[in-house]
Amino acid sequence: MPENALPENKIPVIRVPAMPSDINEGGTIFGGWIMSQVDIAGSIPAAVRAGGPIVTRAVDSFEFKKPVFVGDLISCYAEVTKVGKTSITVCVEVYAQHMEKGIVSTAAVTEATLVYVAIDEKGRPRAVPKA
Ligand SMILES: CC(C)(COP(=O)(O)OP(=O)(O)OC[C@H]1O[C@@H](n2cnc3c(N)ncnc32)[C@H](O)[C@@H]1OP(=O)(O)O)[C@@H](O)C(=O)NCCC(=O)NCCS
Repeated sequence: MPENALPENKIPVIRVPAMPSDINEGGTIFGGWIMSQVDIAGSIPAAVRAGGPIVTRAVDSFEFKKPVFVGDLISCYAEVTKVGKTSITVCVEVYAQHMEKGIVSTAAVTEATLVYVAIDEKGRPRAVPKA
């Protein structure tokens, strides 16, 4: 992948601008807001793979590599990396596009691995259907 660019041949599951309401006391974007976007992004391929409802069971890793600033456009890429009996592991990568004076710079800002579990109507784990 070229530096300072979004990943080629991949489609983000979410693109959203970081708003002034999402900042922390230091003036950059609150990590909890980014975590929320990551969880939503990861849940999309997990629910599709599960063919129905899922819940977030675990966050196996979460790395904030670079800060995100107000006005940055974040793009979340999410990919299923492992399927167990009832669980689906998803890797989420977040890129931020910073726009200033007509110039767009792009950076990988966050990476996380989350585990979702497919559930039945009673909220109990159910087997993930065969691919
Ligand atoms: C998800 C839930 C139904 C699972 O029920 P459970 O009977 O405890 O089942 P377990 O969590 O032991 O196992 C389910 C799967 O999760 C996996 N798992 C459990 N803990 C894990 C962890 N810390 N890391 C990775 N995988 C984990 C298990 O290996 C198992 O996978 P497999 O079936 O593919 O082998 C239950 O824990 C729950 O309702 N949790 C709350 C979910 C929630 O509210 N999330 C936040 C909002 S979406």
